[in-house]
Amino acid sequence: MSDLVSVTRHGGVAVVSLNNPPVNALSHALRVTLIASLTELFVAADVQAIVIACEGRTFIAGADIREFGKPPLVPDLPDLVEFLDGAPKPTIAAIHGTALGGGLELALACHFRVATESAKLGLPEVTLGILPGAGGTQRLPRLIGVKPALDMILSGTPISAARAQQLGLIDGVIADQVKDAAVEFASSVLAQGRPRRRVSELTATLEDADTFKAYERSSAERFRGFLAPFRCIDAVRGAVELPFAQGLERERELFKQLMASPESKAQRHVFFGEREVAKIPGIADDTPSRSLKSIAVVGTAGGVSGIATSFADARMAVTLVADTQDQLDRALSQIRESYADAVSRGRISQAERDSRLDRIRPTLLDDDARDADLLIECVPDELSDKQAVLARLDRIAKPNAILASSTTLWNLESLAEATSRPAELVGLHFSGPFGPSRLLECVRGPRTSAEAFATVMKLGRSLGRVAVPVRGHVARRLMARRREETLSLVEDGALPEDVDRAMTEFGYPIGPFALELERSARATPDPALATLLERHSARHGIVRRSVSLEEITARCLYSVVNEAAQLLEEGFAARPLDVDMIMVHGCGFPLYRGGPLFFADQLGLAEVRAHMLQFREQAGAEYWTPAPLIERLAAERGSFYPGPR
Ligand code: CAA
Repeated sequence: MSDLVSVTRHGGVAVVSLNNPPVNALSHALRVTLIASLTELFVAADVQAIVIACEGRTFIAGADIREFGKPPLVPDLPDLVEFLDGAPKPTIAAIHGTALGGGLELALACHFRVATESAKLGLPEVTLGILPGAGGTQRLPRLIGVKPALDMILSGTPISAARAQQLGLIDGVIADQVKDAAVEFASSVLAQGRPRRRVSELTATLEDADTFKAYERSSAERFRGFLAPFRCIDAVRGAVELPFAQGLERERELFKQLMASPESKAQRHVFFGEREVAKIPGIADDTPSRSLKSIAVVGTAGGVSGIATSFADARMAVTLVADTQDQLDRALSQIRESYADAVSRGRISQAERDSRLDRIRPTLLDDDARDADLLIECVPDELSDKQAVLARLDRIAKPNAILASSTTLWNLESLAEATSRPAELVGLHFSGPFGPSRLLECVRGPRTSAEAFATVMKLGRSLGRVAVPVRGHVARRLMARRREETLSLVEDGALPEDVDRAMTEFGYPIGPFALELERSARATPDPALATLLERHSARHGIVRRSVSLEEITARCLYSVVNEAAQLLEEGFAARPLDVDMIMVHGCGFPLYRGGPLFFADQLGLAEVRAHMLQFREQAGAEYWTPAPLIERLAAERGSFYPGPR
């Protein structure tokens, strides 16, 4: 046997162990080797049952995503799954870690499934813009029912072993010694003479004739702009309406359509981007990082309660320091409100809320923060105030502690001067212009040490965020340029509601003008505004004209692309990827478009440049001069992301 697959015998039970680190993805080599092993075991006279288990940290986490977009290699994943479906002997999938995508589809083709208590099972394909293409849309509804299957497939969120058992997805929860427990289970199957149950032979019945229509209706808003959820519903409908083989054919057809779609390409770009972005340019992967157990959050600028809860949610001790009792009470009441909301939505239990709250220690004394591993100043963006607080924290912090500033305005050097430890100073931005987000922008100053920076980047990951390394305030610069363009659009003749409509139709969750009003009021068109704008434009000698939605979209998009190219040139962002992750995870850019630079690549940079030149004719070189990077790439017929994506 190869290193990828090994077989051990336990009486009449053969255990096939897959070993393809890091996540046992079903690569071509693994598929070939697994089919070869199974072929031998299917005919071996002394083998009565076959267990499929995995080495390492997890059961199979899916198809090998790196093979996506390349010419298909035979046997493909559906070939392997259908081969297993025809097994002449009882087969048992023994799951630990995560059984995801093709991994769960392979398990569904086994006659039995068992899983450890901590295991998670899911079909996350929808998050990659595709559908479970190896029989998942056909077998899952047959096994657990149409509605639970649609819920799993559309959310892409894995479920626990306990829930899987409740739904009938697994046949038992086993001990953590997976192979021994699975052999025991297999032996009991043999001893009891339990019949082999082929999921493909079950019938998927519809509990309610309106089910598919209802899912289509509820998905229309929930998945606006995405393609895959709707094709998933179509595929599952096939499980009810068609015989298994024809349902599989329909699933395959829809899978191919999705795989070739721009939405899926963009979603896969984001999947890999989220992982690649953790590799910090100029810092070796093996740079040691420090352990951060206790955090001090100092100040009460906007967003401080969200910052404190981020840490408490990740099981870290938080010291919340404010200047006055009043400020402290306000921050604490926001924290309590947000946890009460999480409890009422069923996201956390009351007990979990209590323990998270217990981790937050409010105080008026800086001194209580002296043991913190990381101290973050969160005072309003006034340079002298920020410097004063950092100087205070520098004096009390222990020698190895990291200091962080939440500024989105001042460069780190101007703050570093106030401390005796510029190597330990970083910038941390927890929320983008859209409020709470998954983004953690980590700013590295010229003197920040590799170790301190690697530590906060790793921290981002443990907070469940996408940490992006930058040298300046990238999100703020990008959004400031877009804001400038939206104002210029309304001066030219567009109304705020036109701009908002163009942006939401492009895929942003909210338009830029509605966003600015969001916390005070609900944005509604105001007829009086048109008159005011007419006067304003006239005062500035601008002849108002009709501005199409296409022009609005293009100007908002290309202004960001141009600013991003400028930021790359200036070194504030090191890679196009950093910009795309910031825009998708912090600024509301639609995920299914992959980020502004990925999207610009799809359009072609020569075309993007041509648009910019056209806007320059209208608005002048001050606003619209293609950045040198755009000029160069357009001339070379190049792209932000050379090579296959
Ligand atoms: N194929 C190839 N590589 C994969 C992979 C996959 N399916 N899943 C993860 N990896 C790689 C990651 O890119 C990463 O590589 P690097 O270390 O080189 O960056 C490495 O495995 C570890 O991944 P994570 O950093 O994400 O590790 P984690 O422990 O945080 O999470 C995980 C592990 C839960 C499995 C997570 O990686 C994940 O969700 N993976 C995607 C699973 C998935 O979407 N599977 C469905 C694929 S589609 C399919 O199977 C069906 C089909 O019909 C085609």
